[in-house]
Amino acid sequence: MEFTSSHLAVLVISVLSYVLYKRWKDPLRKIPGPKGLPLLGNTFSIKPEQMHVQLYDIAKKYGAVTKISLFNTPIVILNSTEACLEALIKKGTDFQGRPPLPRMWIFNPKSLAAAPFEHPDYSSLHRVAVTGLKSYGSGVAELERIMETTVAETIDLLQGKDGQPVDTHELSNGYIGCVMASILFGERYSYDDPICKSIHEMNDRLIQAIDPYSSGAILDIFPFLINFPFLFKYVHENIAKSQDMLNGFIMARINEAKASFETDQKRGCLDYFVEAHRNGVNGTGHKFDDDCIKGLVIDFIAGGMETSLSSISQTFLDLLHDQQLQKRLQAELDSQFEPTQTITMKDKNKLPLLSAYVLENLRYMNATPFLIPHFTLKDTEVAGYQIPANTRVLINAYYIAHNPDIYPEPFEIKPERFLDEDGKVVEAGHPSKHNLLTFGAGRRICPGELLAKSRIFLLLANILHKFDLQPVGELPDRDVRKYKLGILLSPPHVTARFVRRQ
Ligand code: HEM
Repeated sequence: MEFTSSHLAVLVISVLSYVLYKRWKDPLRKIPGPKGLPLLGNTFSIKPEQMHVQLYDIAKKYGAVTKISLFNTPIVILNSTEACLEALIKKGTDFQGRPPLPRMWIFNPKSLAAAPFEHPDYSSLHRVAVTGLKSYGSGVAELERIMETTVAETIDLLQGKDGQPVDTHELSNGYIGCVMASILFGERYSYDDPICKSIHEMNDRLIQAIDPYSSGAILDIFPFLINFPFLFKYVHENIAKSQDMLNGFIMARINEAKASFETDQKRGCLDYFVEAHRNGVNGTGHKFDDDCIKGLVIDFIAGGMETSLSSISQTFLDLLHDQQLQKRLQAELDSQFEPTQTITMKDKNKLPLLSAYVLENLRYMNATPFLIPHFTLKDTEVAGYQIPANTRVLINAYYIAHNPDIYPEPFEIKPERFLDEDGKVVEAGHPSKHNLLTFGAGRRICPGELLAKSRIFLLLANILHKFDLQPVGELPDRDVRKYKLGILLSPPHVTARFVRRQ
């Protein structure tokens, strides 16, 4: 049969009708959001480094549920606490998937943070991570001892500097690295220990490889492109180097822990992972293999270091800007402790202003402004909108944390938001806490939340008790709207003098 112009017309009309029908049937069509170009969507109007500011403006304009699309891939964004909690808590597992993260999956196939919720290893990874952090985690004497020793070392280091300029980013990085290595491996490490340096290097490389706002992010939209290593070469190089380190010094640590394991003598979180490897995960019959152990070690390093670094760096920048606040926090410390005393986690209740400041800082900073992307596991709905299965969903914690209807003057730092009339830290149901989604909510809430908060609290308490923070030269802006969004939102680096208080 000959293909005539009428056949062509019928074909074109059929294809067009199909496309229009699909669009008309698409439930996401009803979700408001900025108009995009055909096929490209909003790809070229969204600037990755400023995405937190852009999605803030979009939320303000379009309301609780909005939508953008990148290369024709729709992304639903939830901008109200009600909508977020409906998705994260009320809707059970509907929203608990993760979209394809091929860069992370080839590096760390058994990552808790990147694993789709329905992945066969997910619940074991989750259970073992939480057990490790709980048994060994916040509130437990061993962890406190480690953090206190590392804080003491930090204080010694600052005393040695004798008021000379210190890069606060490097200082915080060193502290966080030592605490993380100690928590995992159960030994005390000093700032210049090779293992801490290797952990930092591996983490840096990994971050460069998986940064969701770099050019390599296109691999998450078109996962098949990961099979062409000549594209986005830097991604493959960084993954390969991090993998070498993972299979080198991390695997050596894992093997040592396996060889010297004693059931009643857990030294660090790694021993809990090794226990799961030896004995299986309670009642699941799941085989917790070497990839699971490596997966959790990497999750703790990648999930716990950069996030805390960004939050601690922000407190230094903030306190350098706000000398008044610094003095108020010091007055609270002076009213409770002798100058030579070391502050421990047991003293937390004596320091409500400092505790409130830690929360306020986490609100202001929101290091992961949209959490880790979620993904719908089935056709579902939120805030009255239909959301089909396999849709990417962002939780706009940054917008909620800076919504003036919830937090008046949201770009000011005011610890009082988290204090009641009696000067005590507000309870869980208080609006300031209820709307704080910095660590997420529901099943995929950050398991390291308590550890992260304790680390920030202890460091700040002891530094502010012993030192005045003074700026060196002109300070960079303390305005989260001007910070760049990389894998996380991070403040600019700042140098300070830590001058011993009289
Ligand atoms: C200030 C510090 C921290 C912040 C702001 C933070 C924030 C977050 C956020 C927003 C999520 C994603 C929640 C979601 O997608 O719904 C998350 C997940 C996670 N975090 Fe943290 N985190 C911090 C510290 C830590 C620490 C210290 C650890 C480990 C020791 C850790 C380990 C993890 C892990 C393993 C996940 C994945 C959980 C899952 O997908 O089920 N984080 N964190």
